[in-house]
Amino acid sequence: MARSLRVAPEYIKTVKSALLRNGYPSQQSLAIEAGISLSTAKSFLSGKPVDYLNFVELSSKLGLDWQEISSKEPETQPRQPQRHNGEASPFITGSPITQPRYFFGREKELKRLFNLLKRHPLQNAAIIGKKRSGKTSLLHYLKNITTTPAEQLRPNQKSDWLPQPENYQWIFIDLQDARMQNREGLLKYILESLKMQVPNPCDLDYFMDVVSDNLHKPTVILLDEIGVGLQRCPELDDSFWESLRSLATNSTGGNLAFILATPESPIELAQNTGHSSPFFNIFAYTAYLEAFTEQEARELIASSPIPFDDEDVEWILKQSQCLPILLQILCRERLFTLEEGEDENWREEALRQMKPFSHLLDSKIAE
Ligand SMILES: Nc1ncnc2c1ncn2[C@@H]1O[C@H](COP(=O)(O)OP(=O)(O)OP(=O)(O)O)[C@@H](O)[C@H]1O
Ligand SMILES: [Mg+2]
Repeated sequence: MARSLRVAPEYIKTVKSALLRNGYPSQQSLAIEAGISLSTAKSFLSGKPVDYLNFVELSSKLGLDWQEISSKEPETQPRQPQRHNGEASPFITGSPITQPRYFFGREKELKRLFNLLKRHPLQNAAIIGKKRSGKTSLLHYLKNITTTPAEQLRPNQKSDWLPQPENYQWIFIDLQDARMQNREGLLKYILESLKMQVPNPCDLDYFMDVVSDNLHKPTVILLDEIGVGLQRCPELDDSFWESLRSLATNSTGGNLAFILATPESPIELAQNTGHSSPFFNIFAYTAYLEAFTEQEARELIASSPIPFDDEDVEWILKQSQCLPILLQILCRERLFTLEEGEDENWREEALRQMKPFSHLLDSKIAE
C-alpha cells in the first residue's frame, strides 16, 4: 500500500499560499515547526512525494485537509532495486521497507513470530514500537520474505521460515487508509484479498458466514496502526472486534491469525479508547521493537556498495545508537559523499540530517 504522498497538481497553489497565511515567513520556518528537513518541506510544497506522516504533519501545520489535497495517484517503491550510477542504493530513509532485500535485523522477533504461524492453530501477536522503529517494515517483511525469489534477496538472507509458504494468505491492512476506516470497506477488502465473493451490501453477519465456511488455508491479517482504528473509527466498534476474535478463535479451524502493530500495548490502547473488547486479549506474543543489535547494525552498514572505513563504521554505530532509521540516514549521507567525492564535513551534514529524529535517541548516551 502506498506510504508516500504528493500534493495533487491542482492544489499546489493553495498549499503555497497557505504558507504565509499561516504565519510562516519561509519554507525553512515551516520545516522547523514541523520538525522535518528543509528538503522534505520543499518537496511537499512542490508536489513531490514525501513520507505519509510528514505529509499529514505538514498539511495540519498549514491548516489543510491532507486527504483533500493529496494526489490520488498511488506512489509506490519500485519492485526492482533502484539504480544510481550503476550501483544499487540500499539506504531507504522514511518510507517503510517493502522489498525484503533492504530489510535488516529483527532475527529474534522473526523467529518468534514465524514460530506462532508455522503450526496449527495459528496464534496472534502484537508488534509494539515507538514512531519510526520499523513496525510497518516488519509487517511487510513477514508478508513477503517467505515467497520472494532468492535472486531478489541478499546472499544468505534467510527465507525458509515456513514449511509451505505458498499455502499462506497474507492481508496487509493500514488503518490510516481512509478506505479501511469503515466496516464495509474493511470487510470487502478482506473478502477481495481472500478471493471470496463480496455481497452488496456487505455486512458483518454475511462476512462471518462466508469466511468461516470458506477459509481453509492458513491466513494472516496484518493490522497496521491499530490505534487509529480504535480512536477514530466509530464503525469499528466492540461488536466488530468481537466478531473478528470469534473468527480467529472458534470459526476457522485455527487457520486465521492477526498480527497488529501499535506504539502502545493493545490492551491499554483498548481501555484508553473506551473499548471493552476481548479481541485485544488474544495476542499470545508481543515483539518490542528497539534498536538493532550491534551485529545487525553492522550488517546494514556493510551493505553499502562502497565500503566505509572502520572509523566511519564506529562513528555511525555510536551516533545512531543502532536505531534503524538513524543508521539509514547516516549510511545514506556517507555513501553520497563517497560517491560524489565530497569528503569534507560529511559528519556535520549527517548529524544535521539526523536531527529531526534526535528525540528517538537516549539522551544520556547521545553527545
Ligand atoms: N528492519 C529494518 N531494516 C532496515 N531499515 C529499517 C528497518 N526497520 C526500520 N527501518 C528504517 O526505519 C524507517 C521507518 O520504518 P517504518 O516506517 O517501518 O517504522 P514505523 O515504526 O512503522 O514508523 P511509524 O511509527 O512512523 O509508522 C525506514 O524508512 C527505514 O529507514
Ligand atoms: Mg508505520
